[in-house]
Amino acid sequence: MAPKVAIVYYSMYGHIKTLAEAEAKGIREAGGQVDLYQLPETLPTEVLEKMHAPAKDAAVPTLDDPQKLLEYDAFLFGIPTRYGNFPGQWKAFWDKTGGIWQTGGFWGKFAGLFVGSATMGGGQESTALAAMSTLTHHGLIFVPLGYKTTFALLGDLSEVRGGSPWGAGTFSGGDGSRQPSAKELELATEQGRSFWGHVSKHNFA
Ligand SMILES: Cc1cc2nc3c(=O)[nH]c(=O)nc-3n(C[C@H](O)[C@H](O)[C@H](O)COP(=O)(O)O)c2cc1C
Repeated sequence: MAPKVAIVYYSMYGHIKTLAEAEAKGIREAGGQVDLYQLPETLPTEVLEKMHAPAKDAAVPTLDDPQKLLEYDAFLFGIPTRYGNFPGQWKAFWDKTGGIWQTGGFWGKFAGLFVGSATMGGGQESTALAAMSTLTHHGLIFVPLGYKTTFALLGDLSEVRGGSPWGAGTFSGGDGSRQPSAKELELATEQGRSFWGHVSKHNFA
């Protein structure tokens, strides 16, 4: 049976959502299917207003119950950095997965990730590294982007570009005004393609 893949993201300003859509495009181009979910917001409306956060896209289902993910075989997680680590919204989600952790519900499933930061050196790689502890405790098998199909893109230093062999990434700039570039989107789409290429080789009963 073909794997069931979910892209799960949190996006305050839309950059990670745009990457999530590019990842989904790659999965579909490779012949796969994917469902997108966004994590619930944890900040009060008045704080979000002060942070100039736009309204969330109501067309993307909100993942209130982590048990929903037990229906899936593989995940791509979209993580905008906070000080080189998960944002609280992601942490709140993981903190709801204690029962799944104890019973090994995610054990042996596949996971990749993509990230966002304001600046270069702002935490893209450390965010990916920080996520390894959570993936490991859940027994999730990390599928990196790697270099196999991305060497030319990752080796191209002709312009500022987020992303690394850990996963696609985008820089939003200090004021959040920079949008994902064509090369960042290409990397995200390629990650979707190669992630599907990897997980679809496995047999999911
Ligand atoms: C509280 C807070 C902490 C942040 N910490 C960092 C940081 O340490 N380094 C960095 O480069 N960007 C940092 N950022 C910027 C976010 O990573 C950036 O806004 C996000 O990746 C954009 O993705 P989004 O539009 O999907 O929310 C921070 C943003 C907030 C709101």
